[in-house]
Amino acid sequence: MKKLFTLIICFTIFSFTIVSAQQTKNPYAGNQQAIKEGAEIFKKNCEACHGPGGKGDICPDLTKKNKKYGNSDSDLFATISKGRPGGMPNWDTSLGTDRIWKVVTYIRSIEK
Ligand code: HEC
Repeated sequence: MKKLFTLIICFTIFSFTIVSAQQTKNPYAGNQQAIKEGAEIFKKNCEACHGPGGKGDICPDLTKKNKKYGNSDSDLFATISKGRPGGMPNWDTSLGTDRIWKVVTYIRSIEK
């Protein structure tokens, strides 16, 4: 019984590690195809606020490197996935992990 319990705990920790690893490391880093797809996703969902090419309109300029909420891949993922209080919507349910990473990859490609 105790062994089974330990096994379940180990398995749970293991699964959490996999899930969090997925959201801290960009699986598409530098991938040209992902940049293209990310650009399409950006056009459809983000451009209305962030302007063409993410250059900022009524909302923050995403081409600058020092972002308010941090500039690591995982910071960008968290911002897009969960949203931010100043009016940035959350996209975790509408886009999902895979497409969010593609948009992160696109943002990396437009930074100056
Ligand atoms: C309804 C308008 C709106 C849409 C649509 C929108 N955003 Fe935002 N976004 C904002 C606002 C407003 C902020 C600033 C939030 C703050 O400062 O708290 C922001 C902030 C951000 C930031 C953080 C910038 C920083 O300096 O830290 C990123 C990254 C971002 N948005 C990416 C995206 C992406 C990618 C999409 C499309 C999937 C998107 N946004 C769609 C309004 C929008």
